[in-house]
Amino acid sequence: PRIVCVAGARPNYMKIKPVMDALERRGADVLLVHTGQHYDPAMNDVFFADLGIRPPDRYLGVGSGTHAEQTGRVMTAFEPLLAETAPDAVVVVGDINSTVACALVTAKAGPLLAHVEAGLRSRDWGMPEEVNRVVTDRVSDYLLAPSPDAADNLRAEGYREDQIHVVGNVMIDSLLANLDRARAGDALARHGVAAGRYGLVTLHRPANVDDPAVLTGLLKALGAVAERLPLLLPVHPRAAGRLAAAGVPAGVRLVPPAGYLDFVALQDGAALVLTDSGGVQEETTALGVPCVTLRDNTERPVTVTEGTNVLAGRDPDRIVATAHRVLDDPPRPRRPELWDGRAGDRIAEVLLTGGAAAARLRPT
Ligand code: UD1
Ligand code: UDP
Repeated sequence: PRIVCVAGARPNYMKIKPVMDALERRGADVLLVHTGQHYDPAMNDVFFADLGIRPPDRYLGVGSGTHAEQTGRVMTAFEPLLAETAPDAVVVVGDINSTVACALVTAKAGPLLAHVEAGLRSRDWGMPEEVNRVVTDRVSDYLLAPSPDAADNLRAEGYREDQIHVVGNVMIDSLLANLDRARAGDALARHGVAAGRYGLVTLHRPANVDDPAVLTGLLKALGAVAERLPLLLPVHPRAAGRLAAAGVPAGVRLVPPAGYLDFVALQDGAALVLTDSGGVQEETTALGVPCVTLRDNTERPVTVTEGTNVLAGRDPDRIVATAHRVLDDPPRPRRPELWDGRAGDRIAEVLLTGGAAAARLRPT
């Protein structure tokens, strides 16, 4: 069968790669479509190089814009591509605008649709990603869930049992496949940090970086944590101008966005990670590194119940207290079931045997 795999932004590349590889190992004709939602070399090219992904077969070049502009541009470009390439199935990953745009087009065009990372719910409708997750799941045939809690969410929403497959976490496939290479590199030395003696920070959620009052509070908290532990903050382009405007406290060092292997090494060597990223909550759990999440909720609750993640919200005092607590008494995690490096294979088995030949599996 011919299968279109879609990627569009930084957190997509490490998720799509294991799926593409597993499909191709089983003889599928895979077409990689890159929407161009992220385009800076540091948000894009470095991941293709680090992960060994071949250049995309198609590049839609949609770039940045408002939600409607970006989503609309992906849809407009993806529709004729589907008509021309006539795949049997389309695979979308995660929860970004490119994901929901390609899902909507596929649902009306005919190919079967598979959503990798189905069933995650923050129950926070203020997050654009929550809208993207719910809509993408609703029009998908195959709901490929990373953990049992995600499958439970889908059941509670009335999805059919034969649509739901708990396949594990593809992001961890890439993490485990690249960990030795990341550790063998010199990322810590190049960033001027020593293993176990620094904290790593990422910030890019609109709710954290778009509102100057919230961002100022978060930076105040980071400044206080940095009195104990120097902090390294690879800057997402969305936050670059806003961080400069808000003023960064002493002890917090801004650096350009890190490449994949560098960022894995930096997480692995950190005493503590503070983040609002979705994927970083999962990777720190798999690595056993303490993670303080600068949000009130998470769509990835196993990282809290089984992993190293603690939700600290946005209140500066609470963030500082949580960071100290976690440094004094680090959580003792276990790696969630099926976060074992074989999720891509399970997905390929579902799609190819389950199969791309089967009838539509949409809920009634
Ligand atoms: C997007 C996703 C978010 C994901 C994040 C991962 C949506 C709604 N959001 O957020 O879920 O967690 O990617 O990193 O899909 N920009 C650049 N260079 C780039 C890309 C973006 O400078 O290569 C700047 C532009 O000013 C752009 C802004 O970042 O307007 C936001 O980019 P966008 O893709 O809309 O959303 P992200 O915040 O990156
Ligand atoms: N990441 C990276 N460099 C960075 C920040 C993140 O390589 O400077 C990687 C990280 O290891 C993970 C993914 O990007 O694999 C997470 O993406 P991001 O935080 O942008 O998006 P989210 O997961 O929040 O959607």
